[in-house]
Amino acid sequence: MELFLFHFRLWGTTLEQVFLGTRAFGTIEPRNLEVILSTDFEDWSLGARRKVMFPYFGDGIFTQEGGDWKRSRDLLRPQFLFRQYEDLDVFRQSMEDLLSVLPSDGVVDLQPYFFRLTLDVTTAFLFGESVNSLKHDVQGGQADFAESFNVAQDYIAKRMRLQDLYWLVGGRKFRKACDTVHEFADQIIKKNLSRDRTTDRENHQYVFLDSLAENCPDPKELRSQIINILVAGRDTTACLISWTFFLLLRHPSVLEELKAEISSVLQGRTDFSRSDLKKTTFLPNVLKEVLRLYPSVPVNSRMATKTTILPVGGGSDLQSPVLVPKGAAVAYSVYSMHRRPDLYGMDAELFRPGRWTENMPLYDDPVNAKWGYLPFNGGPRICLGMDFGLTEAAFAVVRLIQRYPNMRLPATEKVELVGVEKQTMTLVMSSTNGCRVELSP
Ligand code: HEM
Repeated sequence: MELFLFHFRLWGTTLEQVFLGTRAFGTIEPRNLEVILSTDFEDWSLGARRKVMFPYFGDGIFTQEGGDWKRSRDLLRPQFLFRQYEDLDVFRQSMEDLLSVLPSDGVVDLQPYFFRLTLDVTTAFLFGESVNSLKHDVQGGQADFAESFNVAQDYIAKRMRLQDLYWLVGGRKFRKACDTVHEFADQIIKKNLSRDRTTDRENHQYVFLDSLAENCPDPKELRSQIINILVAGRDTTACLISWTFFLLLRHPSVLEELKAEISSVLQGRTDFSRSDLKKTTFLPNVLKEVLRLYPSVPVNSRMATKTTILPVGGGSDLQSPVLVPKGAAVAYSVYSMHRRPDLYGMDAELFRPGRWTENMPLYDDPVNAKWGYLPFNGGPRICLGMDFGLTEAAFAVVRLIQRYPNMRLPATEKVELVGVEKQTMTLVMSSTNGCRVELSP
């Protein structure tokens, strides 16, 4: 990500690259993003994404375009109403599992635990039953699923980077991982659809799968949609939680302010609901600031379906329109855009949640205000799980802080400037050295 940032600093907020004869553009200009993601939505496609991801994702919202995508979007949108998780019960059991596997004191890397937490939560939400990857004794099908889920995704990330040359990465191990995930999902779907739902109904428990199955009778499509959402929701949220603790531990005064808010709003209660969480004001700004500096999807791209125009970035003053020929890709890095000092101020590279209550240059222009902060994308393809992911992250942050009020950065941990630490890019961006923390009750 630092390399992208360096290029944008050197060449301006919109640039053109010719690599092995292929022309591609890069932009971190809110005006251009508005056009690509919203105003001229029809002129842009997902490019190679469908071909790259198809063996794993199949036909689902993430890989579809045009009418098929619209149908999926209409089908899935109603399933994300927040009243389905208002009581936070869908997060509670997995969070308790996490708290029970963590030691009461000592140094641990929280990052891998967060990936297991979000896998368990998302499967609980989708299937009505968690894969329980946090439970030590999980063996067999569930463990294979969790492992294959990671393997298949690593392959997809590598294929994604190669774009049109994606077919160079694949083979038996990839196919086997995809098959394992598909078979496991099929089994769990079959089992869940045939089980007696009386208790769920009596407890008013909402199960995404049941509700989706009513409108999606084709089992293969049902499986694909479920896998698409599982992938969309698991790693993104795990990265958000992990970067949050990474930053909080390195900014003790922010952690103290957050702790104070949590105790004053929740008064030590652990049975709080989503509306209780909504009473916090600093916590949402902490998460907003984490997603500014570490957006889970730091780079993304679209391909022009016809010769089209970006409104700014061309000419000698870089303010003229740019002609983008049909078939050219435009990469956009929200990671770099979110660090622009002309949008966020001269301290744009510092972690300072308080900035969200101040007058930032971002707010001077309505287009910048709307399109200059995009961790969840924008326009018709904006993230469907935004509220779910933010609620899950808020819940996890609160419960961990309540349980370990004295957590701190281990003395041996390296302290570097924000953005200088090693980052690992798969489909999302995580911390290469994890999120090590010294726990004490
Ligand atoms: C912090 C957490 C999350 C972040 C930062 C995030 C970010 C994103 C981004 C950037 C996209 C746009 C991808 C693109 O079009 O290229 C997206 C799409 C999507 N997200 Fe999320 N997401 C998060 C959590 C979730 C969760 C928890 C779910 C579901 C349980 C979810 C479901 C989806 C779906 C279904 C789409 C596809 C929407 C479409 O193409 O119409 N996301 N998300």
